[in-house]
Amino acid sequence: MATPLRRYGAGARVYDVLSGERWVYHAGREAGIDLLAPRRGDIVIDLGCGTGLNFPALAAAVGPEGLVVGIDRSVDMLAMARRRVSAEGWGDRIRIVESDAAELDTGRIHALMAGERDRDRADALFITYALSVFDRRDEAWTRARTLVRSGGRAGIVDMQAPTGRWKVFSPLAHLACATGGSDIRSRPWRLLERDAVAGTVRRTERKGGHLVVVAADLP
Ligand SMILES: C[S@@+](CC[C@H](N)C(=O)[O-])C[C@H]1O[C@@H](n2cnc3c(N)ncnc32)[C@H](O)[C@@H]1O
Repeated sequence: MATPLRRYGAGARVYDVLSGERWVYHAGREAGIDLLAPRRGDIVIDLGCGTGLNFPALAAAVGPEGLVVGIDRSVDMLAMARRRVSAEGWGDRIRIVESDAAELDTGRIHALMAGERDRDRADALFITYALSVFDRRDEAWTRARTLVRSGGRAGIVDMQAPTGRWKVFSPLAHLACATGGSDIRSRPWRLLERDAVAGTVRRTERKGGHLVVVAADLP
């Protein structure tokens, strides 16, 4: 069903302010970065990067030797992301690619990484509040994980209905997800839990269980 932000077009200009970033979603992003633990010199793929709200933490973590590749299908969200990159002067450490994640030309991303940093696989894949929005999340995940080197890491931050005594906020959480076109029942972190190296899954929750944060090593 079409929702106001479903295509992330007209909403791009107001996304950072109206998406609840400050009061709710920043907490999951921060926890995701902690669990993913990007290192100096890493190449990190930010799939469904939107306006680039992960970029400050990722750019700081990887430093000038590293590279962040932000991928999204929305021209308008990417326009905001590019504006952020230019305003912060991160031109040398962030590259932006417009693509539907389920149809991602992985060869193009391998070539981009090789051209920028002399190796064609990423050290980490980070996906925040995006997989639950994707129409074909399995295809998107399958393609994206092939971009990561063996022994690299992935982190997924996404949403579910709040749990325990926080269930009273469930209607609000459902409304926020419906407005953003996100399927609150999709539990996309299960893709990572399924494909991770056994024993490496790290998980935490924020905001009464509404935000689920999972990171793990990939084989
Ligand atoms: C809720 S926003 C999250 C953006 C960002 N990751 C964040 O944490 O703020 C979801 C993003 O997924 C993007 N998106 C939705 N479907 C997509 C697809 N099939 N391929 C790539 N990006 C997609 C939207 O354009 C939007 O930027």
